Amino acid sequence: MREKFNVVKLDTTNTSLVFAVNDGNLGIAHYGKKITDLPQSDSLDMFLLNGQWGASVDRFNITKMSYSFVGDGNMRESLVSVINSDGTYTSRFVYKKHSLVNGGIPLDDLPCARNAEKTLIVELADDYANLTLKQYYTVFKDSDIIAVRQELTNNGKGNVTVLRLMSLQLDVSGTSYNCVSFNGAWARERYRKDTAVTAGTWMIQSMGGQSSAIMNPFFMAKNPDGNGVYAFNLIYSGNHKEIVEACNDINSTRFLVGINDYCFNLTLKAGETFATPQAVMLFADSEQSVTSEMHNFVNNHIVDPKFAYKDRPLLLNNWEGTHFSFTEEKLLELADKAAELGVELFVLDDGWFGHRDNDASSLGDWYDYKEKLNGSLGKLADKIRAKGLHFGIWVEPEMISEDSDLFRNHPEYAMIVPGREPIRRRNQLVLDLVNKDVQDYLIKEIGDVIERCKAYYVKWDCNRHISDIYSATFENTGEYFHRYVLGLYRVISALKKRFPDVLFESCSAGGNRFDLGMLYYMPQTWCSDMTEPRHRLSIQEGTLYAYPQSAIGAHVSACQNSSFESKFNVACLGAFGYELDATKCTQEELEIIKKQIVFYKQHRHLLQFGKYYRLKSIFGRERKSSWIIISEDKSEAIAFLAETDELINSVPSEWRFTGLDDNALYSFEVRPQNNFKSDVIASGTAGGDALNNCEFSFGKLFSDETDRQPYGTPLATRLIYFKRID
Ligand code: DGJ
Repeated sequence: MREKFNVVKLDTTNTSLVFAVNDGNLGIAHYGKKITDLPQSDSLDMFLLNGQWGASVDRFNITKMSYSFVGDGNMRESLVSVINSDGTYTSRFVYKKHSLVNGGIPLDDLPCARNAEKTLIVELADDYANLTLKQYYTVFKDSDIIAVRQELTNNGKGNVTVLRLMSLQLDVSGTSYNCVSFNGAWARERYRKDTAVTAGTWMIQSMGGQSSAIMNPFFMAKNPDGNGVYAFNLIYSGNHKEIVEACNDINSTRFLVGINDYCFNLTLKAGETFATPQAVMLFADSEQSVTSEMHNFVNNHIVDPKFAYKDRPLLLNNWEGTHFSFTEEKLLELADKAAELGVELFVLDDGWFGHRDNDASSLGDWYDYKEKLNGSLGKLADKIRAKGLHFGIWVEPEMISEDSDLFRNHPEYAMIVPGREPIRRRNQLVLDLVNKDVQDYLIKEIGDVIERCKAYYVKWDCNRHISDIYSATFENTGEYFHRYVLGLYRVISALKKRFPDVLFESCSAGGNRFDLGMLYYMPQTWCSDMTEPRHRLSIQEGTLYAYPQSAIGAHVSACQNSSFESKFNVACLGAFGYELDATKCTQEELEIIKKQIVFYKQHRHLLQFGKYYRLKSIFGRERKSSWIIISEDKSEAIAFLAETDELINSVPSEWRFTGLDDNALYSFEVRPQNNFKSDVIASGTAGGDALNNCEFSFGKLFSDETDRQPYGTPLATRLIYFKRID
C-alpha cells in the first residue's frame, strides 16, 4: 500500500488525517484516532469502494474525498461550484502537489486561528478552466483541532463566477450519523437538537447576515458505531451553511462547512483569488472531549492572547434596571450601590447618545445626549471612576435610525434597495458596511466614543438581521453578505488596534452572533437576553458545548420568577455581572448580592477558566442539570446541581461527579442558599475515587428549601465547593 500510493499524513495530539494520492486523485484514507503507520497490504483498502484505484477509476467509486465539484460524476453536494469563463459549469480538479510548512498561513481580512504549529497545503487544479484550488490544513501543538480553508485562483483571462466555495469537506464511512446542532431564537438560543441523518441531506444555516440564534454554526456528528464524535465550527460571523449528506449508494456521509451560498455569487477576475474563512474540525472519543477540546481551542487559538486567561471584571449593567429611562442622578446612584456591593465595572447601556429615549431614534448619532447625562459622557465616566469603578459603554455601530442626523446627511449610508420600502426591525435600518466611507465613518466615530469616555470595556450590540441586501458602492450584490462581514471585521480590527487594552463584549439582541469570528476580536459574548435562570440553564448548557465559560456573558437580573440565589448559581459559570436596578433591592437582597460577589471573586478564576464537565444534561430525560468545574491541578472544584421538575413527594436525586483526582481526599461544602438564611447545610469529606464513581444523594438538600416555595417555579439549585485536603 505504501509503495502503491503517495501517502500524506497529518497528526494532531490524538488523531490522524491521512490522504492517499494516485494519478491525480486524492482520497481520504483515514480521519480518526491517531495511527503510526498504514497497513502494508494490498488487501486492506482504506479508501475505495471496490478496491479500485487508478487513472481509469470512476470517481464515483471514491467514497471519501476532501474536495468535490460540479461534473465530477459524484452527484453529491459539492465543495466548489463555478461558472467557468466559457460559460460552462463543469470542473475537473486534479491533485498537483502538496507541501508542509511551519506555522499557519493567516489571512489579512478574515480571522484565522492563532499560534498554529504547521500547515499542509494541497494544490489541485483544473487546467482546462485555468483554476487552482489550494486546501490549507492547519494543526496546533496542544490540540486535536484541524483548521481548514480553501483558496480558489483564476489564472485565466476571463471572469469566473463562484457560486459556492465551502471551507471544509470531510467524507466518512457509514450513513447513520446522529447530528447534534444548537438551534433556537431570540431569548432561546442554542438549544440542543438531535437528528439522525440516515438518508438524504440535512442542513443548518443562517441567512440574515449574522451567525444567528436560529442555528449556530457549531455541530457534532456521532458515529453510528458509537465510537467517536466529529465536530465542526466556522471562524466566521456571517451567513453560514453546514451540510450533512448521507449517501446510501456508497455508504458514506459527507460533511460540508462554509459560507452560505444563499444570495451568493462572486466574480473572480483574471488573476484574483477568493479565500474562504477557516472552518475547524475535530474527531474525539466523546461529546465531553469535544467540549474540552473546543474550550481549549477558543482560549488558546481564537481569543486575543492579551485576554485569553485574564480574569473578566464583575460588572453592573443598567439596561434591565432602567432601559432608556435614566438620568445622571440615577446612574450615579446605581454606581454608588455597585461600588458598595463590590462590583468592579459599571456599564452604561443603550440610551446615552443623540436624543435616544426609545428605540425609534439616534442610531448613528454617536454624540452625547447632554440633557440626559447632565453634561458630557466623559464627565459622567470620570464621576463613575471616582467611585472606584471602571467605566464601560454600549454602542450599536452597524445600525442607523431614520430619525438621526446621520440619516438626514447620508441617506445613502443606509441599506435600502432603490425603489423599495425597506423592512424595519426595532425601527432601525442596517448600515451599508460594504461602503468604505461607512467603515471609515464608524472607525472614527466609535473610536471617538471610546476615547472620550476612556472606556475600559465596550459592549458592541447589533439588534437586527439584514433583509434588504444592497450597496450603492458595489456592483455585484451576490458578494454583499460576505463583503458586509469583511467590512465589519475591518472596522473592528482598526478599533482593536487603536485600543488594544479595551475589553470588548459582542452582543446581537442577546446571542444572535455567538461565533468564533466575533470571539477572535471580542473575548466575550452576551449569551442571551433571557436571564430567567430556568431558561438560562438550557441556553448556557447549549452554548457551553462549544464555547468556554469565560466567553459567555451571564448576569443576574431582577426577573421575578426565581430567587437571587438561583439566578446567581446559574449565572456564576461565565463572565459574570448584575443587570438590575440595585437601588430597588431590599436590604436583605443587597446582603445576598454582597455574599455572592465575595464568593464569585474568591472563585472567579476557577469559574471562568477551570475545566468544565457536563454531568446531568438539562436536555436529557430527567430534566435535571449538573456540572462540575475543576482547577487544572484538581485541587479545587465547584459543582452545580439543579432540580427543575416538580419535587413534591419525591425521593432525593442522586448525583455523580467526575474529573476529580481519584487519589485525593476532598472536603466538600454546600454553599448556603442565603435567601433561606440557612447555614452550610451539608459538608464533609470524601475521596476523589468515591466522588468520581459513586452516586450521592444530598438528603433533604432540595426538598425543604426550594425556589418553588417562595417563587412558585420548580427550580432548585445548589453549588458545592470541593477542596483537596490530602
Ligand atoms: C439588546 C441587548 O441584548 C441588551 O442587552 C441591550 O443592550 C439592548 N439590546 C439595548 O438596546
